[in-house]
Amino acid sequence: MVEIKSGSITDADSLRNLCRETFYKKWKSTNTEKDLLTYMNEFFSVEKLVAELNDIEITYLLAQKNNELIAYTKLNRNKIDGELGNFKPIELQRMYVKEEFARMGIGQKLMNEAIEIAVSEKFEVMWLGVWEQNTPAINFYKQFGFEFYGSHEFVLGDDITTDLLMKKIL
Ligand SMILES: CC(C)(COP(=O)(O)OP(=O)(O)OC[C@H]1O[C@@H](n2cnc3c(N)ncnc32)[C@H](O)[C@@H]1OP(=O)(O)O)[C@@H](O)C(=O)NCCC(=O)NCCS
Repeated sequence: MVEIKSGSITDADSLRNLCRETFYKKWKSTNTEKDLLTYMNEFFSVEKLVAELNDIEITYLLAQKNNELIAYTKLNRNKIDGELGNFKPIELQRMYVKEEFARMGIGQKLMNEAIEIAVSEKFEVMWLGVWEQNTPAINFYKQFGFEFYGSHEFVLGDDITTDLLMKKIL
């Protein structure tokens, strides 16, 4: 049984491990070790995660099975990118499912919960950035009605790549 919960600071250590493991496994074949470490050390430290878990503008949604964290996504209420008109925006930042649990509907559960929260808080558009070559994730987002509306640069260590921006009107 997989349950979805909002993260709290007691999850910081396990969340750190989940963030690092999923990010590293996903990107190790297309990035240098140095760039991955630089990114992970900046964004996936316990200090950074504790600060985010305490931030009312941010919600981490965690999927848990038998007390083990197996997937997460993050909602950001204080960021906007690209042209989103007058719609009140919320960002879906990162969505990672452990490899061994992929294609079991866990990403879908997280997305449904994220959309439910956003709608209940009267947000009007959900947006995200996804690497232009991450076709599986793009297909996943398209399943939920996300559409392209722009692009931005994404910096990973010394590497600068293009993220496509996608949005879904809520
Ligand atoms: C992309 C990801 C979040 C999807 O989560 P998931 O739990 O594996 O996806 P689900 O099982 O909920 O899939 C829901 C639907 O999305 C679509 N989908 C999911 N993964 C897909 C893939 N690899 N290729 C094509 N469509 C996909 C399918 O329509 C799927 O329904 P189906 O299995 O009945 O066909 C997950 O595989 C992942 O963590 N990938 C690595 C990290 C990553 O790239 N994250 C995005 C960074 S922006």
